[in-house]
Amino acid sequence: MYRLGFLILAFSLSWVYACAGQPEAKGKELLMAQCVSCHSNQITCINLGEDRAYWDKTVVRMVKKGMDMSDEEQDLVSEYLAGLEPGASPVCE
Ligand code: HEC
Repeated sequence: MYRLGFLILAFSLSWVYACAGQPEAKGKELLMAQCVSCHSNQITCINLGEDRAYWDKTVVRMVKKGMDMSDEEQDLVSEYLAGLEPGASPVCE
């Protein structure tokens, strides 16, 4: 049973990667490079599970604090963050 569950999980993950791999990878890259220049990702980690509207608002706030990120990149980061489960790596590591 455990093994079957694992196969299903592996399969759905590869499906998600196939469909959304590019923007997701970019969102993650931006997050790991930019968001840690002012504070650790712990502050981001504790807010995982929030919805897209929260992240849109928060990312815009970070830009107002001086973060240098294009509109398109802000979109990718918000999208990526809104899709993460609480405790997800690499944000929470
Ligand atoms: C230019 C510096 C800077 C950058 C870059 C930055 N932040 Fe922040 N961030 C801050 C400061 C300062 C605070 C604390 C004050 C506040 O919450 O207004 C903060 C607070 C936060 C909070 C807590 C907000 C809350 O409601 O408690 C979150 C979540 C957050 N940042 C996420 C991010 C994410 C995600 C990124 C990258 C997209 C990012 N930050 C990039 C400066 C920055």
